[in-house]
Amino acid sequence: MEPMTGQRILVTGVTGWVAGPVATSLAAAGNEVFGVARFKDPEQRVPLEEAGVTPLAIDLASGDLSAVPADLDLVLHFAVAKADNFDIAFKINADASADLMEAAAERSDRLQAFFHCSSTAVYAPAGQEPRVETDLLGDSHRPMPGMPTYSISKIAAEVLVKYQARRLGVPTVIARLNVPYGDTYGWPLFHLLMMEQGMAIPVHVDGPTSYTPIHADDITASLPHLLSYADSPARIVNWGGDQVVSVEDWSTYLGELTGLTPTFEPTTATIPAIIPDLTLLHEAGFASSVDWRDGFRRMVEASRPDLLQ
Ligand SMILES: NC(=O)c1ccc[n+]([C@@H]2O[C@H](COP(=O)([O-])OP(=O)(O)OC[C@H]3O[C@@H](n4cnc5c(N)ncnc54)[C@H](OP(=O)(O)O)[C@@H]3O)[C@@H](O)[C@H]2O)c1
Repeated sequence: MEPMTGQRILVTGVTGWVAGPVATSLAAAGNEVFGVARFKDPEQRVPLEEAGVTPLAIDLASGDLSAVPADLDLVLHFAVAKADNFDIAFKINADASADLMEAAAERSDRLQAFFHCSSTAVYAPAGQEPRVETDLLGDSHRPMPGMPTYSISKIAAEVLVKYQARRLGVPTVIARLNVPYGDTYGWPLFHLLMMEQGMAIPVHVDGPTSYTPIHADDITASLPHLLSYADSPARIVNWGGDQVVSVEDWSTYLGELTGLTPTFEPTTATIPAIIPDLTLLHEAGFASSVDWRDGFRRMVEASRPDLLQ
């Protein structure tokens, strides 16, 4: 698969965990990259500009998308709101996704693809059974404090994105991401900080609390493979790393790296295990390259070297 280069790309959610490293990697690979966020703190623009990304301050929920650049080759849409209120969550996660597709398509007659980042949060959990793209949807994140609207608004987003892909004829792929992490971010890093504070880590009573974490390097490397599915009607593809790892296992490993001892709180008030079936991603020629133990060590080395033993 050819790496992406020489393209004019809009990346949304660029001040966030996942999209920031994607945008800077694509800029380093010789693409012209525009990065969208609200940039309430202008300081957030600086590292992006230094990495060759052009920051664009757009409130995607405002309805005014006139600043979306013309002649884009590609839109990578990662922006998301984790809101308590369904009106806000639907407006940003669903309505704004549809508006963005329309704005990009109106301004470019060379738009090759719209990439919509979804989440395996849209699945109804089924224990250790891998979920295929056609499996039942559900409200897996409702029990998680702070995420009462997440699963349902991400499902709503998929529906509107699919609708727009068909209506506008824009080749579209909806990628359902499962536990992204990188050298500077991720749920496992959050767990490490909880361990440092002596806080118990919630794990599901129906354990092990298993996922398929994927490192930022593999997130970027997998993009051309996922984009090969872009079509109208839209295609949906699961997105994760090749290894199944549980919160229990990764926290124990983080303990081995740091000497901190994790304690676990089995509860129903957390996200149950969700393991995506990655057959489609693999059929597109992608296999993840970062072993989870190497990736987690890199994360601690980069983010909290003081905690390493
Ligand atoms: N994090 C995970 O573990 C995980 C797991 C599976 C899937 N995903 C998916 O991955 C994608 C990225 O998630 P993330 O965790 O990296 O997100 P994040 O860190 O919460 O960042 C959210 C981004 O969206 C932007 N945003 C929010 N509201 C906006 C608005 N009204 N207008 C413009 N930009 C807005 C934020 O920018 P400002 O606030 O600066 O405007 C920020 O850049 C999402 O689609 C998410 O559903 C994430």
